[in-house]
Amino acid sequence: MIRVLFVGDVVGKPGRDWLAARAPGLRESLGLHFIVANAENAAAGSGLTGALANSILSCGVDGITLGDHVWDQRGFETEIVGLERVCRPANLPEINPGRRFLVLERDGLRLGVFTVLGRQFLPPRADCPFRVADRVLAELEGRVDLVLAEIHAEATSEKIAFGRYLDGRAAIVVGTHTHVPTADATVLPSGTGYITDVGMTGPYDSVLGREVKPVIERFLHGMPTRFPVADGDVRLSGAVAEFDPVSRRVVSMRLLTVAANEGAAAGTG
Ligand SMILES: [Fe+2]
Ligand SMILES: [Fe+2]
Repeated sequence: MIRVLFVGDVVGKPGRDWLAARAPGLRESLGLHFIVANAENAAAGSGLTGALANSILSCGVDGITLGDHVWDQRGFETEIVGLERVCRPANLPEINPGRRFLVLERDGLRLGVFTVLGRQFLPPRADCPFRVADRVLAELEGRVDLVLAEIHAEATSEKIAFGRYLDGRAAIVVGTHTHVPTADATVLPSGTGYITDVGMTGPYDSVLGREVKPVIERFLHGMPTRFPVADGDVRLSGAVAEFDPVSRRVVSMRLLTVAANEGAAAGTG
């Protein structure tokens, strides 16, 4: 069995530190072949830098994906070109720098990874995620043993439709962006492991990773406000897929939550 852990949006220093503390142990205890993490919120809650990408990779993460916050850190559009294990959303305009997908190799196994941005309730700058996924899958054909596709999107309908669209063509489809884990981890009819949102890796005593009070203030008054990253109840949230290379189907898909205050892995779903 090939086991893959996908880690949801890593938020700020609390998320980075908790991921670094737990990734090596999780690889060992869960027998993971690959760990992939979305790091779109790793730099102070918005975006990523080259230095932070390398520090996340050095703690045992094999590949990094991004989302709508991809270009939030100044200069990252230059740095991303040199980051071989980081990919930007595949359906951004072609002129955007960075890789559209990754081919990660470990112990002779090859995992293809890509992310697409959803288009419902997000700024309309991305190409059709469905058609772009078709194109990326065609490019990965024959080059990888299995594919992990991520849909970084707001609408559950768009994410579920995307999972169904790729059922049997990508081994794993995970949703991200809402930062709230969903209770629907499943194996779809044609063998794709699917979950609508894996949640975030960061402080859950928060509003989506940010301090509660400023977010409430913004809703009350509508004035521009800074949203510092919170620090309470830090959890790693992700999904673990178990792929059978003989049947070429995922045989189990589950949400994984690792809370700091528990100090141990607890699986649900
Ligand atoms: Fe995010
Ligand atoms: Fe996002």
